[in-house]
Amino acid sequence: MAVVADGRRILSSIVASQMAEHARYGGVVPEIASRRHVEQINLVLQTALRDAGVGFRDMDAVAVTNRPGLLGALLVGVSAAKALAMALSLPLVGVHHIEAHLYANFITHADAAFPAVALVVSGGHTDLFHLKNHGDYVLLGRTRDDAAGEAFDKCARLMGLDYPGGPAIEAAAKSGNPSAVPLPRAWLDGTPDFSFSGLKTAVRRVVQSADPPPVADIAASFQEAVVDVLVTKTVAAARQAGAPPRVLLAGGVAANARLREKMQAACDEAGLPLLYPPPALCTDNAAMIAATGYFHLQAGRGSDDLSLDIIASEPLAVRAHVPNPGGS
Ligand code: KG4
Ligand code: ZN
Repeated sequence: MAVVADGRRILSSIVASQMAEHARYGGVVPEIASRRHVEQINLVLQTALRDAGVGFRDMDAVAVTNRPGLLGALLVGVSAAKALAMALSLPLVGVHHIEAHLYANFITHADAAFPAVALVVSGGHTDLFHLKNHGDYVLLGRTRDDAAGEAFDKCARLMGLDYPGGPAIEAAAKSGNPSAVPLPRAWLDGTPDFSFSGLKTAVRRVVQSADPPPVADIAASFQEAVVDVLVTKTVAAARQAGAPPRVLLAGGVAANARLREKMQAACDEAGLPLLYPPPALCTDNAAMIAATGYFHLQAGRGSDDLSLDIIASEPLAVRAHVPNPGGS
């Protein structure tokens, strides 16, 4: 829960993390997630207001994630948001989680703007978009199997590292050699799509080999393989999309320092300005939801009524229609 003023000033941002509990099971357990949402929501709401030094009456709008995600958790947030909006006669804005990751860039960068090419890398998504304007997005490419964050989580588990795997692999990689273990990169040449399942299989083979290399070397080599593909394909997509004036990076995996560093170097070389949020605004947070609600209303995209529904799965954007040159 967060209170954000004018889309950019974070007055408070509370993350009630359940990670420690889910870590015992090696991933998010939906039933536990829903229950903790119910238990925490009122306390978190009060804390967010208190930290911001504001009251209910100071609010101008209520934004809430309504898609995509675990239905039980979404329902708790949406029900609370509807109650607030109704009681306070405020506009309600249902926000797409992936769109909010993109808008995290608008919180900290005054020069964040459209058009742009964006890479969103999270636990469930690895998507490349051409962002034309507020709410006008085209999907350029996406993963055909595992998301980048999912690959970090699954490979960390194979290496005996903690959940979530991203930060654990990044920490382990610090003392490792990124070229020690030869690992595959799925280039899927000629397409803007990604694939990480082959890399996961290769990591399993290395870990289970008779004489496995040190975990630090596997972690560093794995991280390098993921980062190489993400960086190369993002810059290629930006060029192909007519090199829009900026590249945005977002999502939990965008907190990764090696990804930030290599994306920066590649964008510098290509003459493309790169924007990414600070790490705390890359991983899931409520400030990005509030900011998205603000920009949504500012752009005249309207508000939702109390029939706002929760949706488990919905793409943020679809691919542009490419007319078949053969004409059949
Ligand atoms: O966006 P996010 O917080 O939640 C989802 O919407 O999924 O992303 C979570 C994902 C997890 O897979 C986690 O392992 C990964 O982001 N992640 C990282 C790092 N921090 C979080 N991956 C690589 N390096 C990191 N530092
Ligand atoms: Zn997320």
